[in-house]
Amino acid sequence: MSSEGETIGIIGAGWVGLVTAACFADLGHRVIVRDILPERIELLRAGKVPIYEPGLPELLERNKERLSYTLELTELTDEADFLFICVGTPPTYSGDADLSGVWAVVDELPPLERRLVVIMKSTVPAGTGEKVRSALEARGLGYLGYASSPEFLAEGRAIEDFVHPDRIVVGSFDPADGKRVGALYAGIDAPIVYCDVASAEMIKLASNAFLATRISFINEIANVCEVTGADVEQVAKGMGLDRRIGPHFLHAGIGYGGSCFPKDVTALKQLAGNSGYHFQLLSSVIEVNELQKRRVIGKLEKHLGALAGKTVAVLGLTFKPDTNDMREAASIVLGSRLLAEGAEVRAWDPLADRDSYLRGARICDSVLEAVTGADAAVIVTEWKELRELASEKVHSAMRNPLIIDGRNLLDPDQVRVAGFAYDCVGRPGRSSTASGQAKTSGPQAE
Ligand SMILES: NC(=O)c1ccc[n+]([C@@H]2O[C@H](COP(=O)([O-])OP(=O)(O)OC[C@H]3O[C@@H](n4cnc5c(N)ncnc54)[C@H](O)[C@@H]3O)[C@@H](O)[C@H]2O)c1
Repeated sequence: MSSEGETIGIIGAGWVGLVTAACFADLGHRVIVRDILPERIELLRAGKVPIYEPGLPELLERNKERLSYTLELTELTDEADFLFICVGTPPTYSGDADLSGVWAVVDELPPLERRLVVIMKSTVPAGTGEKVRSALEARGLGYLGYASSPEFLAEGRAIEDFVHPDRIVVGSFDPADGKRVGALYAGIDAPIVYCDVASAEMIKLASNAFLATRISFINEIANVCEVTGADVEQVAKGMGLDRRIGPHFLHAGIGYGGSCFPKDVTALKQLAGNSGYHFQLLSSVIEVNELQKRRVIGKLEKHLGALAGKTVAVLGLTFKPDTNDMREAASIVLGSRLLAEGAEVRAWDPLADRDSYLRGARICDSVLEAVTGADAAVIVTEWKELRELASEKVHSAMRNPLIIDGRNLLDPDQVRVAGFAYDCVGRPGRSSTASGQAKTSGPQAE
């Protein structure tokens, strides 16, 4: 890297593209960001950020002299030596990754004077790099370098994850290209795993599939705890202290969601299937996750009986806190199931795009509005605003003071002392079906 830094092109101004752009600019590189959405580019040029990610606006602002935004790919190919592809790879109906965005970029690359390195940051099936290389060769662009450097950031803490990653993975066809890509990350203190392209692609898919497996595993343990009287939080603590297991991703709840886990697990299962291998374990991981979201309905029915005509407050819509991302959020499945059962759904979230939630649900401006007159309140996303849910105000506003805590966010003793009936995930000894102060209509109060 020159003392001035390199010039890097970023293709795709979503979570991964913008965080990568801001962080590379902060490391001293010049970064040109390209997207195909004119409104996105206009916003960015005006100093605004089209997604919610803590710290990102400040980082983009601090490095604005080194950042520029464009709709034209040629602005990148004219000036940059490295092109990071960060476009979306959503699932298709078959569960395979939709690579049309990736192919649109590859097909659009013009003949070039210089030897750029194209780097795939989008999550793609193992084998994609080989196909891209063939496509580039067929177009007479076989002289371009190609590397895979998958992204492991988690929304809500994406900048921290980029700056302090557990590892950086760089797979390349030519080891010299890999070293050049690795050098872009100079200043970040993390081991770099240099490998071949297919292995880099597989590291990303396998990592997400493994984390999802841990979540489905602890969720099944939670379900068994519910019938055996054990407490999943104590179980997870005891398991996590074993260094061979570790404490992470052992938090029971109503299932994983988001833009990555569901699609990447399915894509890996599909990738294996397409190659003639039945990845049985992942089929179960996916099924357990789907059933976990629906278990909330059973818990509501246990307390309220049939849900037709009941009012349920769905608290938290995004797939996790500190993001406005609604992709594959558990709230969507839960809300549709409630509507299908004939319940009235009131929904609240501090950040989610109001218009993107289910038709038929009433979106509320505050938690209090959502719970007023409700027969139950379900914590779906562990927003910090919900830590004080078991308040006197909420108790008196609800028609039936019942809280279903899908994230084990609240202290069961405090909730019970506050007079609520309470149910959670895998903590049977700490759930309560009725409270002395419960007010009216639910079956538990009748
Ligand atoms: N979001 C995450 O937490 C995360 C984490 C790790 C990896 N990933 C992976 O990174 C990739 C990007 O994810 P994301 O969440 O940033 O997606 P996103 O949907 O937020 O953003 C993708 C952007 O690419 C743009 N785009 C599409 N085609 C384009 C083209 N031809 N040229 C320029 N821009 C184009 C879109 O307009 C959009 O702004 C995906 O493969 C995803 O699986 C995402």
